Amino acid sequence: MTAKPSSSRVTLNSLREMKANGQKFAMLTAYDYPTAAIAQRAGVHVVLTGDTLGCVILGHENTRNVPLDLIITLTEAVRRGAPDIVLMGDMPCGAIEADLDTFVTAARRFRDEAGCDTVKFEAGDDGDQRVGRLVKAGISTVAHLGLRPQQVTSPDGYRAQARDAHAVAELAEQARRMADAGADMILLEAVPNEASLAVVDAVSVPVIGCGAGAAVDGHVVVTHDMLGIGDVRPPRFVPVLAQVGKVIEDAMRRYVQDIQSGAYPGAQHVYGMKKASAGAAG
Ligand code: KIV
Repeated sequence: MTAKPSSSRVTLNSLREMKANGQKFAMLTAYDYPTAAIAQRAGVHVVLTGDTLGCVILGHENTRNVPLDLIITLTEAVRRGAPDIVLMGDMPCGAIEADLDTFVTAARRFRDEAGCDTVKFEAGDDGDQRVGRLVKAGISTVAHLGLRPQQVTSPDGYRAQARDAHAVAELAEQARRMADAGADMILLEAVPNEASLAVVDAVSVPVIGCGAGAAVDGHVVVTHDMLGIGDVRPPRFVPVLAQVGKVIEDAMRRYVQDIQSGAYPGAQHVYGMKKASAGAAG
């Protein structure tokens, strides 16, 4: 099923080149084959099989309950749909809270089983040590800083971070430590422009923003939020560019009505008998 990667494949190097040329890149979440294929056709540069699937796909209140086996399986499906762009896997909470060896084993599964180019994790105090272990194992990594949703357990906990000079300096220092340890990219979630500017100044690797203003090298949002699917109001930084949930709902409502009114199935939906059988029967 997987199409062969093409020679114009987007790689981590392409993202570095884009940064060097002042060109921004676009990243979206994808949790399944068809969405990944559409993203690739649309020119998206990076797909993330994010642990947001815990909320978006599984219906949990937070991202803490994502089984490793499940996210590996879905990430593999995303790779089948999008063989030519960068695929980023997302380490689930269980793997990050585990010991270092378990953490590295999980990251290896994203690379070897799911075909990821890089693996993101929410980096805490020991983040640089974890980056170092992944680098040693030859696994590319992205350090997720700023708002770290795996730490949030109540709906009012999703708050912007690094909103004063001291916190901005701390964030820039954290990012520098991650980059020095070998992180290939930094992802900043829910921080002001001033904070992303400080991080972009502090590191030479590409910086991805998820609600981090304009200073970053690339942007990511949750696809379901951007497409208007789901019943939770998306965060303010999400550009809601379609109302796909409404399109799906209208189509489903019409399906129900057509069945109940007898409009479905029409003649075009019904199999005919083979000619000979039809003759024999007649
Ligand atoms: O899991 C995810 O979708 C993410 C993005 C929101 C950055 O981490």
